[in-house]
Amino acid sequence: MALFRRTPTLLGIDLGSESIKAVEAIREKDRLRVVGFGKVELPSPEARADALNDLLKHCSFKTRRVATSVSGRSVIVRYLNMVDIPDENLKTAIRFEADRYIPFDLNEVVLDCHRIEDAPGVGANEMKLLLVAVKKDVVQEQVKLVQAAGLQPEIVDVDAFALGNAFALGGPTYEMAAGKVVALVDVGATKTVVDIVRGGESYFTREVYVGGNEITNAIAKRFGLETFEGEQLKRQPASREQEIAEAVLPSIEDLGNEIQLSFDYYENQSDSKVEDVFVSGGGSRVPGLEETFERIFERRTMTWNPLEGFDLDEGLDHQALLECAPALAVAAGLAARAGA
Ligand SMILES: Nc1ncnc2c1ncn2[C@@H]1O[C@H](COP(=O)(O)OP(=O)(O)OP(=O)(O)O)[C@@H](O)[C@H]1O
Ligand SMILES: [Mg+2]
Repeated sequence: MALFRRTPTLLGIDLGSESIKAVEAIREKDRLRVVGFGKVELPSPEARADALNDLLKHCSFKTRRVATSVSGRSVIVRYLNMVDIPDENLKTAIRFEADRYIPFDLNEVVLDCHRIEDAPGVGANEMKLLLVAVKKDVVQEQVKLVQAAGLQPEIVDVDAFALGNAFALGGPTYEMAAGKVVALVDVGATKTVVDIVRGGESYFTREVYVGGNEITNAIAKRFGLETFEGEQLKRQPASREQEIAEAVLPSIEDLGNEIQLSFDYYENQSDSKVEDVFVSGGGSRVPGLEETFERIFERRTMTWNPLEGFDLDEGLDHQALLECAPALAVAAGLAARAGA
């Protein structure tokens, strides 16, 4: 969406609610190499500008060209089955159609659309269209934040599609899913992004407003701790893994059931099946999550490394990169647009 230029090096910045994550990638022919990364926690949601400056100071990225993403209730994504029309007429047709699907004043949104090839459940003479609307003020706020940090915003994407882009870069997980409809599930702090994809195409996406914060709260409540202590215990469970897994089970089940509703909805309206589930996000790193999800979904569920489609520069701290990789899915998918 928004601006788009060919840039061989791009910095993907994921402005999350708990932390800011960045991945810098350079395109080398048909491969992408990660040449920088970083993560900084936000002491409070208002502290984004300072936190971004800190991140840039510590990471000395090579490029100022940036891709960011938006998410939340100001982002509307719709998948429409409509009469097949030529691409050159799409933009005009969409301005007429959009009123029916977008619950905002069309003058207040940035609109974009994309034809989805070979989607299941599409009749003859029909096409499936992805329609995206984002409140202009949300995009502008993000552009301002990035510019104030001395960076140059080039691309504004949507969290769910960045997640899909990281996946579509390739690697063992992508190959395992070849030809299948699968779900990507990214568990953040305040929300979980679900993107149902086949190859590089997104067929359905939804955000569930439950994430790692609920899990932290469950730990704090169970052990009679303050929230920050619950957070510490979650990250460093030491020998208490079993107790923690029990404490967080109901929250993980609630989240899993919510996600399952998305699978049911997609499967009913498309007449195709979600076969595997690949989980990422900082919030997924809690004992028992993968197993509980698999039990609820009744399909193969596993965590994946969102950097597996990239080459990794030798100069990077590989240990630190591996440590924060689960949380880097969106940033990686943004950086994946380098030179594309
Ligand atoms: N080492 C760890 N072990 C367990 N949980 C962790 C660990 N590190 C981070 N988390 C959890 O990950 C969550 C944050 O994940 P992430 O960075 O993906 O969120 P975010 O992108 O900032 O949030 P959102 O997408 O909701 O805006 C928090 O709930 C945090 O407790
Ligand atoms: Mg996030």
